[in-house]
Amino acid sequence: MDTLPRPSGQPYAGHLPRWAGEPLALLEEGAALGSLFALSLGVPAVVGFSPEWNRQLLGDLDTFRSGGSFSRLVPHLAGGVILLDAPGHRSRRAHLNVPFSAASLASLRERLRVLLHHLRPEGEFDALRWADDTTLHLLNAAYFSGEFPVPLLRAFLAPLRRPFPAPMLPRPALFARASAEITRLACRRRAEGGTDLLAHLARLEGHVEETRVTLAAAHDTTTHTLAWAVWHLAHHPEWRTREGLRPVVRETLRLTPPGFIGSRRLGREVEFGGHRLTRGTLALYSPYLTHRDPDLWARPLAFDPARFGRPPAAWSYLPFGGGERTCLGMHLAHLLLDESLSALLGGELKPVRGNATLRPGVTLGPTGPLVVAYRGR
Ligand code: HEM
Repeated sequence: MDTLPRPSGQPYAGHLPRWAGEPLALLEEGAALGSLFALSLGVPAVVGFSPEWNRQLLGDLDTFRSGGSFSRLVPHLAGGVILLDAPGHRSRRAHLNVPFSAASLASLRERLRVLLHHLRPEGEFDALRWADDTTLHLLNAAYFSGEFPVPLLRAFLAPLRRPFPAPMLPRPALFARASAEITRLACRRRAEGGTDLLAHLARLEGHVEETRVTLAAAHDTTTHTLAWAVWHLAHHPEWRTREGLRPVVRETLRLTPPGFIGSRRLGREVEFGGHRLTRGTLALYSPYLTHRDPDLWARPLAFDPARFGRPPAAWSYLPFGGGERTCLGMHLAHLLLDESLSALLGGELKPVRGNATLRPGVTLGPTGPLVVAYRGR
């Protein structure tokens, strides 16, 4: 650990102030020093971004444990499958994978289309607010057939969007209200059946917590991707075709991966690249750094969906993580994104004004607003 390069920090607080205030600048400074660098974040930490580091961190679940990761510091994400480690993780994922598989989700598509017909904007609008609202309603439809009270869902998800330390504060009353509503609807699904995600989840052990944490993992990640993608489409009309949407989403997720940093705890000592990493070290991977590495990507800062004409090199593109813990909601996110963006095909979409500066929080979003004008046909 002592042999690793480290960016500038403060004598006692280490890198914590910079981590809280300007994490992207800190990560970029570290990346310029080497493909593996050290940070002091209250505990010793290492950040890597090479494909080999990603493969090892995401592939070896016994060594790289989720239990002690950063997710445990954010109550919305601290539970269920997200924090479960081997050996329990694999069987829980196997159960959860069923309703979140592409085949199972296909039955939701028509319902989402009908809803999007009503959510389609007209005239000038802020893509970030629209994405926020659209994602909320689509998730409500997919999980609960639209029966979850929207103000409660909005209130439950709101703290995740606020600056630190707001997402880290416990909110027992709000969680109790959200959980009570999930419990009520789940009882109804068990008695009467249904075709939404909750009808599947309600049969699983720990379903209230799993529903709550997956909703929290779903909302801002999808919102931010949708907002960025609308902004890019407004600037690059040549990609606003049915075939263009998937490469645009992939390129959006490359440039601005909502999960810009992921963390694990080392369950044993590890040797990597000639460095000895001690047990208990916080091990971080960064899709943001990997996706912008000029050794892996030509013109990494350019928006160029055509680059996905060829598959990316192994472990160099990981907006949804990788290995056994690959994002549970990847197919759901693609479904929501494809359908929402398809609603903006045809007609005219133009950028008006906006602040697209990166705003890192729990997820990486735009500062906003991102005002665009849409005139449908
Ligand atoms: C564009 C949207 C999304 C992005 C970019 C994204 C990104 C990610 C990433 C990078 C991870 C891996 C974290 C790690 O291993 O350190 C992850 C895990 C996870 N995601 Fe997503 N996510 C998105 C949408 C969703 C949705 C819609 C859901 C709803 C089910 C969801 C639920 C989860 C869960 C439960 C995990 C933990 C899986 C496990 O540990 O087994 N995500 N996501």
